[in-house]
Amino acid sequence: MSDSTQAALSNLMHEQRHFDPPEELARHANVSADVYDEADRDPVAFWGKQAERLTWAEPFTDVLDWSNPPFAKWYVGGKLNAAYNCVDRHVEAGNGDRVAFHWVGEPEGDTRDLTYAELKDEVCRAANALVELGVQTGDRVAIYMPMIPETVVAMLACARIGAPHTVVFGGFSSQALVDRIQDCDARVVITADGGYRRGAPASLKPAVDEAVERCPDVRSVLVVRRTGQDVAWTEGRDVWWHDAVGGQSTEHTPEAFDSEHPLYVMYTSGTTGKPKGILHTTGGYLVGTSYTHWAVFDLKPETDVFWTAADIGWVTGHSYIVYGPLANGTTSVMYEGTPDTPHKGRWWEIISQYKVNILYCAPTAIRTFMKWGKEIPEKSDLSSLRLLGSVGEPINPEAWIWYREVIGGGHCPVVDTWWQTETGQLMISPLPGVTSSKPGSAMKALPGISAVVVDDVGKPVSKGEGGYLTLTQPWPAMLRTIWGDDQRYRDTYWSRFEGVYFAGDGAKLDEEGDIWLLGRVDDVMNVSGHRLSTTEIESALVSHPKVAEAAVVGAKDEDTGQAVCAFVILRESAGDGGQDIVEELRAHVAKEIGKIARPRQIMVVPELPKTRSGKIMRRLLKDVAEEREVGDVTTLADSTVMDLISENLKDSGSDED
Ligand code: WTA
Repeated sequence: MSDSTQAALSNLMHEQRHFDPPEELARHANVSADVYDEADRDPVAFWGKQAERLTWAEPFTDVLDWSNPPFAKWYVGGKLNAAYNCVDRHVEAGNGDRVAFHWVGEPEGDTRDLTYAELKDEVCRAANALVELGVQTGDRVAIYMPMIPETVVAMLACARIGAPHTVVFGGFSSQALVDRIQDCDARVVITADGGYRRGAPASLKPAVDEAVERCPDVRSVLVVRRTGQDVAWTEGRDVWWHDAVGGQSTEHTPEAFDSEHPLYVMYTSGTTGKPKGILHTTGGYLVGTSYTHWAVFDLKPETDVFWTAADIGWVTGHSYIVYGPLANGTTSVMYEGTPDTPHKGRWWEIISQYKVNILYCAPTAIRTFMKWGKEIPEKSDLSSLRLLGSVGEPINPEAWIWYREVIGGGHCPVVDTWWQTETGQLMISPLPGVTSSKPGSAMKALPGISAVVVDDVGKPVSKGEGGYLTLTQPWPAMLRTIWGDDQRYRDTYWSRFEGVYFAGDGAKLDEEGDIWLLGRVDDVMNVSGHRLSTTEIESALVSHPKVAEAAVVGAKDEDTGQAVCAFVILRESAGDGGQDIVEELRAHVAKEIGKIARPRQIMVVPELPKTRSGKIMRRLLKDVAEEREVGDVTTLADSTVMDLISENLKDSGSDED
């Protein structure tokens, strides 16, 4: 952590404000303070009890098998069906008429309510269609979709027949789709012609066509008609969703799968170029997500309207739009588009229209709203809100306070929730009505979770000190491995500190022992709450014929938290690259990975700062990108390189869209 971050943090902690849990909330909250002691006394028994939230076709014999770490088995011997737990059982309990999703399309007036009974019928139809397409238990299905109800239906249909899904965020490129399809050997792709974004139809099918050309094992592409745009069609491979699913029976008997049956693979960026397929399994994941959704959001499923404003293509969408909320029988809002279409008050109109009680979103959105001004949310009636959540990146205290005051009217507790694709479930967060909160702190590990901040050698730090965040006990929704690569799973997460999970985040304990997250300590960047790997973007850049070498850093950015800044050395044959080289390279990264990875800035430089052993010193480049004085250069092989870089900066780049 840099000295300036340390100093800023110390100041903050010094001035820190406390918000005690409102008494009224404390009286009615789902959990009470003794839950921490209960879980501490016997975490395994605690998680055993939480499993009663689910309906098991066969009971488990042991809560946890941790005899072969780091490979955990939760709810050993138990059998269940995830889709049954998310849908059918609510209908059987007489709640079929409850709305599961108030879906809001981006074009105004384009809305659809889906009750649990309707969702059950759709999921059964889709499950029957997948079976007819030859999908068998254990087969992988890739899903590349906009934010529409069919995306949820597709995921649940996969879960229902035991075919693990891998949802690929619609903003990823065709190349990224190829990598993921190939890595998990998916045979079927579910997609749509497109979706609405920023007031216009955006296409998805062409990227799938391009990808599937290079994935000969994909035999079927199931296509939802969302926008009506023209699409190319490959007879025998492409099938319209309405043809394949529409005519199916609404009866489908869910099979009970082992608690450890794979539920899904979600790819995420790591420190090396290749994205990792994070594997989540059924029983533990559903217990972890449903318990935390109920406890941390103080969810009252009979009355609450809940909204996670995130994309289903990320883990936040998986755990808190789909599995957690549905397992709890929640009524959720799901919104297709961007917050500024057709105007900047869209979110607030949705909240007032559906009387949303709980909003969960990323700090980057909150900072954007702050910039747009409080007059915009003030035009809407937000009085239905009673709880606010934040996720994805450290929330700066100013944004936290603004969120609480302007959006929450000063009376809604804010829960800053720390977790990861790998953890599957919320891990560190205040509990509303129980824990007090401090702007900028995620406070403490949830009941049943043990988070410890350690120093370089793995020794727990004292209050007031900083270090690395580790998790010392297994938890139900933890990743089980990296798809197809157990060794990488061990190396990445369980080797930095012997026998404990290394999260890759820096953290600090304040004087009261509460946890403050400080961002990644590895080569992972966090741009608008999205995880990107510096090495992955570097690989994309050097795959361009004009680039000899590239180094990428995440530089501080007021709006997006961090922004991608690239330094490139061009090949001699490229000359100075010409006028448009920066735009050409930005477009190349968008093509290789996706628009989200496109560098904000590309600087063409003659050299990169390297140590004598040839390692690029990104720390120094970060200083340049953040326009700071360059730090200690004594370990550089050639200490004049930084001067050369400063003199030669050929800047670049806007950041439109
Ligand atoms: C960061 C998103 C600070 C962190 C759910 C983590 C956070 C990475 C917070 C995981 C938070 C997430 N405060 N940092 N409340 N929540 N992070 O896998 O660096 O997309 O390691 O999961 O986001 O990102 P991922």
